Amino acid sequence: MLFSIPEGDFMKAKRIWVTGSANMDVVLSIERAPRPGETIAVGSQSLIPGGKGANRAVALARLGANPVFSCCLGDDLTGAALADLYRSEGLDESEISTVKGSGSGTAYIFLEKDGSNRIAVFAGANDSFKDEKISSFTSRLDEVSMLCSELEIPVSSVERLIYEARSRDVPVIIDTAPVKPDVRLSMFKGVYVLSPNESEAEALTGIHITDEKSAREACRALHECGVKYALIKLGKNGSICFDGKDFILCPVFDKAGKVVDTTAAGDSYMAGLCKAVSDGMTMENAMRYATVVAGIAVTRFGAVPSLPRLDEVEDMIRQYPAQAGINP
Ligand code: RIB
Repeated sequence: MLFSIPEGDFMKAKRIWVTGSANMDVVLSIERAPRPGETIAVGSQSLIPGGKGANRAVALARLGANPVFSCCLGDDLTGAALADLYRSEGLDESEISTVKGSGSGTAYIFLEKDGSNRIAVFAGANDSFKDEKISSFTSRLDEVSMLCSELEIPVSSVERLIYEARSRDVPVIIDTAPVKPDVRLSMFKGVYVLSPNESEAEALTGIHITDEKSAREACRALHECGVKYALIKLGKNGSICFDGKDFILCPVFDKAGKVVDTTAAGDSYMAGLCKAVSDGMTMENAMRYATVVAGIAVTRFGAVPSLPRLDEVEDMIRQYPAQAGINP
């Protein structure tokens, strides 16, 4: 079981391989979510690029990590627009596939006044992330420094990607969003970082997180499936990580401004974490770096447009060294 991050210059020549969804987000800004049977007015609607995979890949590119993004786009205008966007962000196009006859993934996001959201996703082409994409990953494993995935593609495919990565000692970082009915904790054995948010941790462990004590219990339960780090993102309460011995608690970074939209908060956090871990930071520093990345993203509207660039993150860390808390 590989639990160390390989070091040395060859790591720099390798690439973080991001697998996951590519969506167009239909964002509906509302005062509050409708109750069953109720009709409410939508203040404004916007079409904004998103998708948990794409958010992560674009964030990594903006942080200077040069990732490979492996995804499936629909054979439609949305797919073409998303492909153009990825190109303009400088993303490697070699693993971006277009699925004939399929529509692109679409997320319907209810964004409430306080920045919180509820999301319903039509998977579309994301559901075609299957054999061909996995074979391509396997054939290019020599180029991969780290696999970074989420669960907005078929769960069975993620399970196979984890297996392939582990068979070649490639560290794996998994965001368990969204937890689907076919997700089992045992499929994550050997993963380097397993990271649900609060509600996903609850779905995976059965532990209702209400305070630090229950968050610690949930971390322990996640860790028992055989991962190196169990890391729970706790929204406004920060994040907590357990390595089987010690806990790391990391508060949110709130110096970037007012929270406007929490869409992609988790994705930007995970991108920051992957970048920091692959740059060789300690887990505590990586969590703090990720927190700054997410802390900037939530001050802006939309998913992809909210993702910060490296210089913004570095400026924020320079400006607020105590709050960023990254130890040399
Ligand atoms: O994590 C946020 C993302 O979830 C949105 O961009 C939406 O596309 C859904 O996938």
